[in-house]
Amino acid sequence: MAEAMSPMKTVAVILAGGIGVRVGLDVPKQLIKIAGKAIVVHTLEAVEHNANIDEIIIMMNAESIHELDHLHTSGQFSKLTRILPGGETRNDTTKLALAALPDDECKVLFHDAVRPFIDDRIIDDCVAALDSYDAVDTAIRSADTIIQVDDDGCISDMPDRSILRRGQTPQAFKISTIREAYEIASGDPGFKATDDCGVIFKYLPDTKIYVVEGTSENMKVTEPIDIHIADKIFQLQSKSLSSESAETPDLTRKTVVVFGGSYGIGKSIADVAEGAGARVFAFSRSATDTDVTSRSSVRKALHEAHGATGSIDYVILTAGVLSVAPLVKAPKKQIKRTIKTNLTAPAIIAQEAFDFLKESQGSLTFFTSSSYTRGRAGYSLYSATKAGVVNLTQALAEEWADEHVRVNCVNPQRTHTPMRTQAFGEEPDNTLLSAELVAEVSARVMDSPMTGQVISVRL
Ligand code: CTP
Repeated sequence: MAEAMSPMKTVAVILAGGIGVRVGLDVPKQLIKIAGKAIVVHTLEAVEHNANIDEIIIMMNAESIHELDHLHTSGQFSKLTRILPGGETRNDTTKLALAALPDDECKVLFHDAVRPFIDDRIIDDCVAALDSYDAVDTAIRSADTIIQVDDDGCISDMPDRSILRRGQTPQAFKISTIREAYEIASGDPGFKATDDCGVIFKYLPDTKIYVVEGTSENMKVTEPIDIHIADKIFQLQSKSLSSESAETPDLTRKTVVVFGGSYGIGKSIADVAEGAGARVFAFSRSATDTDVTSRSSVRKALHEAHGATGSIDYVILTAGVLSVAPLVKAPKKQIKRTIKTNLTAPAIIAQEAFDFLKESQGSLTFFTSSSYTRGRAGYSLYSATKAGVVNLTQALAEEWADEHVRVNCVNPQRTHTPMRTQAFGEEPDNTLLSAELVAEVSARVMDSPMTGQVISVRL
């Protein structure tokens, strides 16, 4: 009887050998940080996380290869075996990867480092398709009509859109097949290709290339505008944290410090965290005489929590002030107070909490308001400070990424809190979020691996 075949090993190759001329920044585009991490690290995380991938190698732009040294030691990427220099062209990079992989037959997936929104479904489909095919591409339909132009810049053909697809990655192969294609190509002096399926298509024309359905999120960061789009997609993805079906994390043995924790959202967060098993230390002006704008006051609070439990895992700041008035009518004192409470306090808390959070690899969570994207008449300074908090969040997420301290910002829509009632009077209940829901989402945010994100909570 034949022995049961052991499943073939699957290796993912992350292609990061390029520079990204078209994005036009002074770092290779795969190193641009979005949502707190380099694009290539987001891609690596997604691939590492997939259960079908056994091993990962990264082919990195030779000049900046040292920028990825930390990935070997981070302990986060158990499948990552090698980071090797890429080649002159994308196809050279693929060839170098093929040369570095062992002779045994295996499944190999080539994926662009600059497509960070690769998901499990696409990877699983590619790996599964290799049981029936030797070559697999990933592609999506084209929303735009594709036209062919001649040398004069005029239309020479208009292929039927319904049969056209836009190629993405992964492109997946039995390694013997892609090796053979490159072997034949090496004998062609006129060799020209932009991807790996193209090499199969040209040099092994009898090999069927199966096409797996991609997604529009699986875009390639190519042009400057793609950085903004990618940033927005990360924000949308973090939205799943606010879906009703998401669960409250288990916070047993975690220490949570809430500044502004005696009423409103802060109080609800303290309750939710306590309910989830955390040891909660709630500080506020009214209950503990803690002034978030005073460094000594913040320091005292943090030391109290750390002294009692030996660690601080999560710090949340919900304290904020909102006064509605045209700026020219605002008392000088109010200007000072708004800036100090809404912007200086987050900076002070960040500075004072950093060492504790570094020790616990924990997180810091701030609050912003939907007015951060656009200043509004009547709350100029409030919206200005809330925009500041978002930028502070993003900057700190980058500054602290290597220490694995996460920083995020929750953006609740109109929420039923005493601060809001004081500013706007009583409003119909069905137009306001409950502080409990915002607290639930906040607990998920502080416990999640993401960083540098603004998480919107909506009705
Ligand atoms: N790539 C590679 N080796 C090269 C060139 C590109 O591994 N010599 C990788 C890129 O790092 C990227 C992917 O192939 O992850 C897709 O290529 P593309 O978007 O064209 O990247 P760049 O060549 O970096 O971009 P540009 O053409 O704007 O310079």
